[in-house]
Amino acid sequence: MTTITVPHAFNEEDLYVDLQPIFGRSLFLKCEGLNFAGSIKLKAASEMVDAAERDGTLTPGSLLVESSSGNLGVAMSMIAASKGYRFLCVTDSRCNLTTRLMMEALGSEVHVVPARETPGGYLRARLDYVRDLCARDDNCVWLSQYTNPANWKAHYRRTAPAIARAFPELDVLFVGAGTTGTLMGCARWFRAWHRPVRIVAVDSAGSVTFGGPAGRRMIPGLGMSIRPPLLDESFVDEALLVEEAETVRTCHRMARRGFLFGGSTGTVVSGAMNWLARRDARELTAVAIAPDLGERYLDTVYQSNWVQDLYDEETVDAGTAGRRHEESRSGRPAR
Ligand SMILES: Cc1ncc(COP(=O)(O)O)c(C=O)c1O
Repeated sequence: MTTITVPHAFNEEDLYVDLQPIFGRSLFLKCEGLNFAGSIKLKAASEMVDAAERDGTLTPGSLLVESSSGNLGVAMSMIAASKGYRFLCVTDSRCNLTTRLMMEALGSEVHVVPARETPGGYLRARLDYVRDLCARDDNCVWLSQYTNPANWKAHYRRTAPAIARAFPELDVLFVGAGTTGTLMGCARWFRAWHRPVRIVAVDSAGSVTFGGPAGRRMIPGLGMSIRPPLLDESFVDEALLVEEAETVRTCHRMARRGFLFGGSTGTVVSGAMNWLARRDARELTAVAIAPDLGERYLDTVYQSNWVQDLYDEETVDAGTAGRRHEESRSGRPAR
């Protein structure tokens, strides 16, 4: 039995799904959504708050502020509620409704900034907004997940060693890139311990992180519209880009087999499966990180109208295949 008194004390660190039965190729998916914040961001948030308490930046009267497309905001809301801090999350219109409601239920304030038609788009608008808040109120403490070393240190201390313990013979690790905290923490750890593990970053097409052109991205979690300050590409062996339509197809494919994962997991799995197929890498031990689960994406990735409005016919077909099957069985549309 496990008993806890604070929500961040629980985090499942040792669950992997072998995707072999779904994709015909083994890939061990490390599930990071099994904690009270529902995502991998619990680790970054805990580490940043602990560091700020230790160095005296964060004190009882502080107002924590942070820019987040969702998951970090939920994790910060949870920790702030538990420790008695106020928290204000600055997000944008791509933040899922459920995520926003969760933050509010946990007692946080949420400000949604409008998009800007300028380079840096949503993210720059959010960061400008946070800077403005901090300039106006001395109680504001911005931990800044995009620049804070505690973000990658969380994964150096916890995520990478856990993977190495579970897979001592690991050959390749696929990690999604948002702030690149997860990527850099894992990459630095395997380098520091001289493990011959290939580190493959997976990003969304339209993200500028690895030097590609900026483009529309609708699924939160991965991708950046400015270069992530935490990224040091010398630790990364390869970077893959995945189209969002492909992300959606991959999420639906896993959901049809009972595994409802978040959008960024679809991206990472899609990139990893293509990479493994290109090398016919059946003998390689491969792990990918699944940052969260699918419930937060029911009104986007798993909603056929949303998918239909944004992506091509093939994606929509894949997404509605289960429903059409029901229609043909009953002779009328399934509701
Ligand atoms: C769902 C999801 N996937 C991936 C990531 C990327 O993680 P990182 O910021 O460590 O690169 C995040 C981060 O917010 C996320 O919320």
